[in-house]
Amino acid sequence: MFKNQKLNIDKILNDNTFVKDVVYMRVTSSTNNVGKTAEIAGNTLFFAEKQKEGRGRMGKDWHSGKGKGICMSVVTLPEKDATIVTSVTLASALAVCETLNNMFSLDAKIKWPNDVVVKGKKICGILTECITESNIAKRIVTGIGINVNNKKFPPEIRDIATSLYVLSGEKQSREDIIANILKLYEKYYTIVISDGFEKLLPLYKNLCVNLNREVEAFLDGIRIQGTVTDITENGELIVQKKDGTTVRLNSGDVSVRGIYGYI
Ligand code: BTN
Repeated sequence: MFKNQKLNIDKILNDNTFVKDVVYMRVTSSTNNVGKTAEIAGNTLFFAEKQKEGRGRMGKDWHSGKGKGICMSVVTLPEKDATIVTSVTLASALAVCETLNNMFSLDAKIKWPNDVVVKGKKICGILTECITESNIAKRIVTGIGINVNNKKFPPEIRDIATSLYVLSGEKQSREDIIANILKLYEKYYTIVISDGFEKLLPLYKNLCVNLNREVEAFLDGIRIQGTVTDITENGELIVQKKDGTTVRLNSGDVSVRGIYGYI
């Protein structure tokens, strides 16, 4: 244990059976960067108090105040067809969303594909990366950023971000949250690895905030606007345009916004 280490790793290791190793870093570039290259023997959690180059989806940055949030990457070695990556990323959103609801009695929802939002503001973002060889997923890195004890946010995200502290008025234990996420992550990861995403689809749809709402997305620079009518068993979003035609959006290609704001 580092001097001044602020995270109780033993608690995480004792309270979960999914990761056997936790790599704690005070500062790193991005836990996803480390998780992609580090030598590991099995499922491993990489955690950092501060990331200098935290990354989000679609080339965006991810900022989290030092020591305030959860910046972690769950790294697994699945040896499965690379198509499972989408399922794993959606399953991870489910694990985080349900954990926050169970622990804090929130009404957290999922903004497709894997943002977790509460009262219309983002509390968690997930960036999943995969290392493949001949279409086999050798390593999946699920990078999870959660705003936990952040009291305020930089001006550019102030209107769209929230934290557990802001919502509850109290500091929360990051290790408890991590251990609980890992329990559900294990459950849902195991399901998608053996059976695909289909089994989780009802749970996901039940929490997805975009269903039946109007969204806009940019696909290869083309603006798509319409109503979300369904989510497929592969996790694609079905958007019906005003002219009645439908488009399938894959989580790897686009991010969506509500027509009237972030959600
Ligand atoms: C998003 O909202 O677009 C995804 C944000 C993902 C942030 C997490 S923090 C831990 C991991 N390391 C990173 O660089 N990104 C992810």
